Formats: sequence, C-alpha cells, structure tokens
Amino acid sequence: MSCGIVAYVGPRKALPVIFDTLKRLEYRGYDSAGVALLVGKEIFLAKQKGKIKDLEERLKDEDIPSKMGIGHTRWATHGRPSDFNAHPHLDCSGKIAVVHNGIIENYNELREELKAKGHNFRSETDTEVIPHLLEEYYQGDPLQALQKAVSRLQGSYAVAAIFAGVDKVFFARKDSPLIIGVGEGENFLASDIPAVLPYTKKVIVLEDGDTGFISESEYVIFQGDKRIERKIMEVPWDQQAAERGGFEHFMIKEILEQDQSIRDTLRQRLHEDGDIDLSEELAPLADKLPNLRRLFIVACGTAYYAGMAGKYFIESILGIPVEIDIASEFRYRAVPIMEGDWLILVSQSGETADTLAALRDMKQKGVPTIGIVNAVGSSIARESDVTLYTRAGPEICVASTKAYTAQVTVFYLLGLYLAKVLKGMDVRPYGQELLTIPHKVSQVLAKREEVEKMAEELYKERDFFFIGRGMDWGVALEGALKLKEISYLRAEAFAAGELKHGPLALIYDGVPVVAVVTQEALRDKMISNIEEVWARGARVIGVLREGDPLQESLAMSFTIPNTIDYFTSPLAVIPLQMLAYYISRKLGREIDQPRNLAKSVTVE
Ligand code: M6R
Repeated sequence: MSCGIVAYVGPRKALPVIFDTLKRLEYRGYDSAGVALLVGKEIFLAKQKGKIKDLEERLKDEDIPSKMGIGHTRWATHGRPSDFNAHPHLDCSGKIAVVHNGIIENYNELREELKAKGHNFRSETDTEVIPHLLEEYYQGDPLQALQKAVSRLQGSYAVAAIFAGVDKVFFARKDSPLIIGVGEGENFLASDIPAVLPYTKKVIVLEDGDTGFISESEYVIFQGDKRIERKIMEVPWDQQAAERGGFEHFMIKEILEQDQSIRDTLRQRLHEDGDIDLSEELAPLADKLPNLRRLFIVACGTAYYAGMAGKYFIESILGIPVEIDIASEFRYRAVPIMEGDWLILVSQSGETADTLAALRDMKQKGVPTIGIVNAVGSSIARESDVTLYTRAGPEICVASTKAYTAQVTVFYLLGLYLAKVLKGMDVRPYGQELLTIPHKVSQVLAKREEVEKMAEELYKERDFFFIGRGMDWGVALEGALKLKEISYLRAEAFAAGELKHGPLALIYDGVPVVAVVTQEALRDKMISNIEEVWARGARVIGVLREGDPLQESLAMSFTIPNTIDYFTSPLAVIPLQMLAYYISRKLGREIDQPRNLAKSVTVE
C-alpha cells in the first residue's frame, strides 16, 4: 500500500498547513500520522497510531512557532501500525527527520551495517535506515548527504527530510509520486496534487532520480549531479473539485459526477456528427498502427473490470484478439510476445505498482504502450508511449466509481477510432449513440432514491451474489467489488453460465442475487440462469433495460435507459455503485476510507 507525505516552507504557521494538506492525502493510507517541525535549531516531533484528526486533536492547544515542517499519513508495509513505527523518523541525534513513501528493499542489510556503526534504531520500519544514513553522510551539506543516502537505497521512495537549523526541506524521488507546489513566497511538497490545491495551482511533477530542496523563496532540482529545470504545470481543477462539495461522502459526490466526467472524457474526441478522432493523441504510435494484431489489457481491481468492457467491445468491433490480465499475474507470467502486440494499461492513480511494472517490462521488450489514466502527470501517464486521459477529475473515495465509467468510455472511443482507421468503418452511427450516454447517465442518477429504498430492504443481508453474461459479467464483478470493499459484506460475482458448475451450491432461500440483464443478445440465456437461482429460493434483484417485461416477475429491479448492447456498462454499473453506497451508509461504515484499503497501491 502507500503513504502520503507533505512538506511546507513559507510565512504561515506550518502545523495547520501540514495538517490541512495531509488530510487531502488520507486516501493514501490512514493507520498512523506524524509531523516534524523546525523550531529554531531544534526539531519538534509528534506522531502516533490512528488518523490525522487524532494527532491534530492532541496538538490543538500547542502553539508551535514554526514556519517549516514535514508530515506523513502512513499505510503500514514494514512494521505494524504503532506510535513507534509512525513517521517521521529521526536519526540518533534527533537533528534529522524523514518522511518516506515506498519500500526500501535492502533495508535489512543497511540496518545491520548502520547498527554495526553504532546507530540506534527505534522502529520496525524500512524507512528508519534513511535518517541514519543521512546522519552518517551529513557533513554540513544536507543535499549532498541525501544524494549519497538515496544512492544506497534499493526499492521505491519519495522522501522529504529536514535538518535542525536548516530552513529548507530536502527531497528525493524514485518510483513513488512526489510533486512540488509552487506558491508565492512559499513552497510545498506532496505525494499528490489535491493536497496543495487550496494554496497553489502551480505544480511540478518530479521524476525518478530527482533530488533537491524547497525553501520559502525557491525550489532547486537536481537530476544526478546536474541542476535542472522542470516544467511548471497549471492544474485545471479547482479546489471545489477536490473537496466533498457539501455531500456526506466523496463516494456519492463522485457517483453523481459521472454524467459530467463521461462528457469531459468524450470532449474534443467525439464530434457532433458522431465521428471520432484520436489522431493527435495517438500520433506517437501512428506509424505502428497498421501492424497492430493483438491487444493486452492489464490493470488491477476496478480498472481491470473496466478493461473487461474494453476487451468485449474491441474484440467485437475490431475483430482482433484482446487478452486481459490482472497486472500482478501478468508481470510474473511467461507471456509470449509477438510482432504486432500492443499493451493497454488502465489505472486511475497511474501509480499502481503492478500495473507500472507491467508497463516497464513490456516497454523494454519493445511493445507499444497506451495508458488509460486519470491522474495527470502520474508515472503510468508519463511512461506510456501514449496516454489517453480519462478526465474524471480527482477521485478521492477509495472505492472507484467515476474512474470506471470514464475508463469504459475511453475504451469505446479507442475501439471505434481503431475500427475507423484500421477497418475503414463508418463509426458515426455508434458515435452518435455514444453522444447520448451522458444524458442517459443523468437519467440513471436522477433515480437514486429508488436504489436507496432497495438498500433499506437489503442492508441486513449478509451474502450477496451478482450474475451477468458478456459485458454484464464485468459489470456484475464491479458491482460485487464495490459492495464488498465498502460494506464488508460477502459479495461475489459469477458469469451466469458458470452457476451450475459450482456456485449454485451457495444459493439458499431468500439470498439476494443481483442479475444484470442489459445485453439483448444474451437475455434469454440470462432468464434461464435467473430460473436456476429462483428454483433454489433466491430473491432476484434485476438491473434491466427500460420496458423489459422481466421487471414484473422480479422481487426488485432498476431499469436503465435503452441503448445498444455495447454501451450499457456505464449505465448498468451506477445502480450497483449506489446500492453499495446506500447499504454501507445504513450499516454506518466509513465509506470513503474502508478498512484495510488505500486509494493508491504503490507497492507490490
Ligand atoms: O489506481 P488504479 O486504477 O490503478 O487502482 C486499481 C485498484 O487498486 C482500484 O481500482 C481498486 O480496486 C479500487 N479500490 C476499487 O474500488
């Protein structure tokens, strides 16, 4: 999992700024939190197990005269969540404090080496080797010490370090995200852009191998031993977009944004006449396009389920084989690569470790790569040959919703564009239908009270099953993932045709089975599967097309506006997202930050 780090230097009181920025990174992990502040020639340290607000409460009466500091919200990888293991970590003298996101793979040997030199370790973390290495190498130049220290590290890191008596925050980055927020007379570091948005919209996305420092008046970046400049990016999101906007949870806010995020994702790519143009975005791969023979789609979790819609759609519209893999499987599988193979990586955060590793492996083998990514400037976005952004805006809730529908939308655009270019297909009739999807999504969103009522009847159940066929199978899987991750109820999805090969044994009297039936071509087959679970006493809840007479026979159902079979997934998934949300709300769960999960999974 991952952690969030922040740093501030400027004229404001540092502690409130650090808490404020850190809270917007809590989605990255929230088992412990800590801050270290420069107070004259000393370092003030406070850290503890629990959430940021617990630490904030503890420090609320302290008036610490500090204008510079670092903060951390942790997700345990090495060492259980505890006060000792919380970051920042100090060197032996207490004069150097470090926060870190990532994993130091060679920490055991470094720890032994440092212990032999007399260093005293106080935690079980891999991170603690960093302040001790800094102590070892520090001879008056903190940056030099940091550069030397990180040259000893194997693994991934985004590091921020402060030294007593030095009014600069030093940083280093490799395989873990880190940005500089460039303010007026103040500067910030953070693991992700939303952290700094209330203060500045100017950010620099640091690259692997970057080291440097921020001070009140400047920022300095080195790549190796060369000082370099990196482009300042103006972030188009406003602060509102990254905040809850008055809703009780980010999740419902993000569910309700899906008409807009799909519209944004289609913008400038899908024209009014239904024509689709991705030529500029795909330009870096244009000369290789005629050789495309097979696609691999690789992703994790929800992004993988979005990839399932992509596979079914592209195979059908383009007629080329599309293989889909879970990134953690793909990267360790002996995948036979052939001439004409391309790889598509799908990721909301653009930082998922397994997906990123798959990208790097395949790039090395010369496979052309396309990233379907939401987070601007993230690693997958930067390293893919081509990035098709999903334009869903910041997704804060750990459970992914608007990223999924935007990812599926990009697959529609890509599939149609490839069909136009490679097969000479007139894609405009499909494009025209695709243009209607944002409005149809609003129609679905407008019926959220129907789903809330369903949730009231269902929230006391303990087991849920989801079934579907074809593209509806992917939707069923995504619906089950949503429900289990935020409600902690058992929710399993099956390809409906598989029921009689085992899962049917799980069906008992009254158990809810959510049947997604939006694929006209497979409706009769689904009805047979519904009969199978009915016969065992299941209570069937349907997600159906408007006007489907099946509605009359079902215990409960939700209908979606009509469209062609290909385009039902973004409509059908929404009632399932809402069902998960309302059931979990009835159960009083911590919806935006479910237990044991983090938003961005930057370690394997
Ligand atoms: O950032 P990514 O899209 O690469 O993340 C992939 C999964 O970790 C993510 O979709 C996860 O499954 C979500 N919590 C699901 O809601």
